[in-house]
Amino acid sequence: MDQMLIRGGTPLVGKIQISGAKNAALPLLTACLLTDETLTLSNVPQLADIAGMANLLGQHGIEIGLNAASGNGHTLDLKAYNLTSTTAPYELVRKMRASILVLGPLLARARQAKVSLPGGCAIGTRPVDLHIKALQKMGADITIEEGYINAMAPQGLHGAEIVFPVVTVTGTENVLMAATLAKGETVLVNAAREPEIGDLARCLVAMGAEIDGIGTDRLTIQGKDRLHAATHSVIADRIEAGTFAIAAAITNGDLELVGARKDCLKNFLDVLSRAGVLVEEVENGLRVRRQEPQLTGVDVMTEPFPGFPTDLQAQVMALMCVAEGAAMITETIFENRFMHVPELARMGANITVHGSSAMVRGVKKLKGAPVMATDLRASVSLALAGLAAEGETVLSRLYHLDRGYERLEEKLGACGADIRRVKAAA
Ligand code: UD1
Repeated sequence: MDQMLIRGGTPLVGKIQISGAKNAALPLLTACLLTDETLTLSNVPQLADIAGMANLLGQHGIEIGLNAASGNGHTLDLKAYNLTSTTAPYELVRKMRASILVLGPLLARARQAKVSLPGGCAIGTRPVDLHIKALQKMGADITIEEGYINAMAPQGLHGAEIVFPVVTVTGTENVLMAATLAKGETVLVNAAREPEIGDLARCLVAMGAEIDGIGTDRLTIQGKDRLHAATHSVIADRIEAGTFAIAAAITNGDLELVGARKDCLKNFLDVLSRAGVLVEEVENGLRVRRQEPQLTGVDVMTEPFPGFPTDLQAQVMALMCVAEGAAMITETIFENRFMHVPELARMGANITVHGSSAMVRGVKKLKGAPVMATDLRASVSLALAGLAAEGETVLSRLYHLDRGYERLEEKLGACGADIRRVKAAA
């Protein structure tokens, strides 16, 4: 298995191109199931999760063509002319929870779907009950048998008012996609507002869907008989941008993040600013460097968008480990998202966890150590800590990183980081 060797202490300086967003590309890929015409997606990042979704779509009979790469990322032609299977098997779903995103589109177009329940994961139980309840309200007959969600809607889905009791990102996306082909009007109340949902909605509109309220927590969808071909470019990955912003701050470097957008990261950038980091809008993105020589600890609480993203919690914790003073980091979205804490502690961090809050007391220096993580964002937080640490950090279980960061070592290496991937000794 591969490992990442990181020798910390070099300020990172240069430009980094931000890739297309993983969490936008995944639902966008499944949107192809809604039409028998070609959906062309550009700026698709090359990631293990994207390959996993392409694999799953292939098993439903989707033809995926790699168009000549234009600009950044891949351009894919997705052709769901015939759906040869409406089953998403456990072997594929268990590897990637986002596979649940085929449920809404398959049910809406093929009027049936059998999708494995994703099960729990390292950061929490992560149920999909809200996806199921919403689709039932839209007329689906759903049973759970032998670990599978069996959904049938022989007459097609119909519009309904869906009030989400908690904000769910993929839940909103699943039901939004299903509603585009349902009979009549669907209203989603307390819908998630993450920028990736706006991106999906804009693509669906380009495919002929009628959606009001894009960008708000109330989406109104008028169902159509069919959707058609469209071309759409995936938005830039705000979580990747935020991760590299922290790389600049934690190494006392100066990075230009090409394609990063302030409006997608407002709350996160407020935290950076209070910590003593200067973020300026430049022509094609954001420039990030320290304003003060010493960073200051800042309290952070994760919340649904536009609040502080849970997907940047582990990374900001790495930053607070070397800030002056204390920072209370509270996780409100997932119940078990502090798996990086004991690993950061191995690098000399001073962190105490009390329930859903972690008290981080800044230390002068982190020290390199062998570390590993159990999820994607936790992994990258350890890489960030390694970039700031004295000595060498050896990061294992890189498959987590490869799920969500495109060419991480290449991008960081080009800005001066001493980081390389090696085959681990057996
Ligand atoms: C998505 C993101 C993930 C991010 C998360 C929160 C993708 C592919 N993944 O995950 O990177 O960390 O949003 O921003 O976009 N819940 C229920 N019942 C449900 C659905 C959710 O109780 O049916 C709960 C979850 O357990 C969690 C909370 O709602 O506590 C939010 O989860 P949700 O927004 O659904 O996360 P995902 O869509 O899985």
